Parts: sequence; C-alpha cells; structure tokens
Amino acid sequence: MKNVTLPCALLVLASCNNSGDGMDFERMVNQARYEYYEPSEYFSDGRAMREPPEGTVPADRALGEPRVARGEEGGQYVETIPVPLSRATLEVGRSRFETMCAPCHGVLGDGVSVVAHNMTLRKPPSLVASPVTELPAGRVYQVIANGYGLMPSYGQELGVADRWAVVAYVRALQVHAGVPLDGLPAQVRQRALEELQ
Ligand code: HEC
Repeated sequence: MKNVTLPCALLVLASCNNSGDGMDFERMVNQARYEYYEPSEYFSDGRAMREPPEGTVPADRALGEPRVARGEEGGQYVETIPVPLSRATLEVGRSRFETMCAPCHGVLGDGVSVVAHNMTLRKPPSLVASPVTELPAGRVYQVIANGYGLMPSYGQELGVADRWAVVAYVRALQVHAGVPLDGLPAQVRQRALEELQ
C-alpha cells in the first residue's frame, strides 16, 4: 500500500509546481487580469471596469435616522447622545471601551497606556480633558465609526448601538474625571479615601 501512495503524492506535488523550483502560491496574483481604468475589447463600451447592477447600495452606507446612524443632523454633529441610555447601556459601553479603546487611550480614558507611551508621532489623546471634552457627542461617534488621523476606524467591530454605548461611557469617564472628592456623596467619598490610602 505504501508503495502506491508515495508516487501519487509526488504526482500531486508536481502538478502544483509551475516554476519547477517549488510550489507556486502566486497563481492568483500572476493570472491575466485588468488594472483599474484599462480598456477592454471584451465589453461593448470598451472599458474593463463595470457599473454595479442597478439598485446596488454601498455596504458601508449608514441606514436609518441620520442623527442615530451618522451622529449628525442637517450637516451638524449632534450635541447629545440621541438614543435612550440605561445602566445596561453603560455596562456595554464599558466592556467595549475596555476592549477596543483602553489599549490606546487608557482604562480611565486619560491617555495613559503602553501604546501611548510608545507612540512617537501623535499619541492617543486624553478623552477626559480638553479639547476632547468639548467635542459634540456626534463627533466622538464618527471618530469611532470612521477613524480619525492615526486612529483606525472601529466601524466594523462596533455597530451603531455599541458606538453610542461607548460614547456614553466616555461621557461617564469625563464626568468622573472632573468630580472633586468633596463633591462625592459621603459614603462614596469615604470609600474613595480608603482606597486612595
Ligand atoms: C490604536 C490606538 C487607538 C485605539 C485602539 C483607539 N484610538 Fe482614539 N485615537 C488614537 C490616536 C492616535 C488619536 C489621535 C489621532 C491623530 O491626531 O491623528 C485618537 C483620537 C481620538 C479622539 C479625538 C478625536 C478628535 O476629533 O480630536 C477620540 C474622541 C477617540 N480617539 C476616541 C476613541 C474611542 C472611543 C476608541 C474606542 C472605540 C478609540 N479612540 C480607540 C488612537 C487610538
């Protein structure tokens, strides 16, 4: 049995070998193809690029109310979060923030992280200090959805509801960062003092 399988395996290997000196994994890259905007005799309009079929919509088009789907209304960022908020929303926001944002902006959103420490060009800014605290909610939403400058987009990872939950949690961190110890309710102040010792 052994004698039969070995020649078969060699035959399969040989059939994959285009160049004679090893496996050719580049066939897809090397095959005949058109580049963008190249002419083509195949189609009657002489162009290689095709129009999408009628009624095609872009996969990344934001559907639904613009203030919720895009964080803007009449071409302006919405100032406040346009979806109902609850403790559960903030819990979701916290979980997404700690996974997706904290590696760069820090768990407290203050810009203290290993990534920030090692970034030289433009560091992830503090999200709990000016000028980010002055940004309208819709702007923060769009930064998450589309990215901004050196920051990549998280639109693929976070859907509309998750993005607003993260914006809400960022707002909570901002409020938290600005509260003086004296402004805390007595019980919470006591606990904060104990933990600070
Ligand atoms: C890979 C690192 C990284 C991650 C992860 C990241 N950011 Fe950023 N963020 C940056 C950097 C860098 C900038 C500054 C970009 C620049 O100035 O080019 C920035 C800028 C921002 C700004 C300021 C935008 C403005 O208009 O000034 C906000 C708000 C922000 N990030 C929110 C978030 C949120 C919310 C998340 C999580 C969904 C997140 N970021 C995840 C690196 C990151």
